Amino acid sequence: MARDVIVACDFADAKTTLDFLDLFEKNSNTGRKPFVKIGMELFYAEGPSIVREIKSRGHKIFLDLKLHDIPNTVKKTMAVLSKLDVDITNLHAAGTSSMMKAALEGLTREDGTRPLLIAVTQLTSTDREALENELLIKEPMEEVVMSYALNAKNSGLDGVVCSPLEAKAVHDTCGKSFLTVTPGVRFDDGEKGDQKRVMTPREARKAGSDYIVMGRPITAAADPCAAYFRAVREFLED
Ligand code: C5P
Repeated sequence: MARDVIVACDFADAKTTLDFLDLFEKNSNTGRKPFVKIGMELFYAEGPSIVREIKSRGHKIFLDLKLHDIPNTVKKTMAVLSKLDVDITNLHAAGTSSMMKAALEGLTREDGTRPLLIAVTQLTSTDREALENELLIKEPMEEVVMSYALNAKNSGLDGVVCSPLEAKAVHDTCGKSFLTVTPGVRFDDGEKGDQKRVMTPREARKAGSDYIVMGRPITAAADPCAAYFRAVREFLED
């Protein structure tokens, strides 16, 4: 799959989401449809029907449910998700290699095809202090992230969610074809919000991000279509 800009549709219901996506139908004469990220909020509110609806409109989908449970439960859940025909889905690498391998088995359809499967290493909301005092992990954060990324790669996964600041190190550790999907992207003249360590789309491209995930800089923009096409230009073309 080619590199792309993924729009995080962090909305509470189907109507708001579909009204938002309608803007792109009305305002785009390029035929380009945003790659959409559906997270827990929207999925738990609306269920699989919202995935089918967005897919039927021709969007690619990253279903961001971050599974983390015993291997058997994750395997059976991934088998259910594989029927939704999403393009990317994910889990927590903290679930360990046996869970990641079970997930891949569950996700793989009878004909051998499957969505891409990527792992969350450490959430960017987990800081050094919480890592050490609550998770009782003493190694430096970067070492933990790279070790989890390597576990994901060795379990057969396709990539990781990480900060664009970690994309180069992940590629150096796990290889160029191991995907880096990076949130924490902001325009150089935009609000950072609660994202602390950010890069612009252009910087993320230079850092080697394969996919950038942008939510509020696009969803909360006065002109979401203009913001989306700016991100596409900066990430893919400039
Ligand atoms: O609005 P914003 O651009 O900050 O949205 C980023 C998206 O990426 C959100 O859906 C957020 O949950 C997700 N995300 C993140 N950091 C991570 C993992 C996921 O921001 N480490």
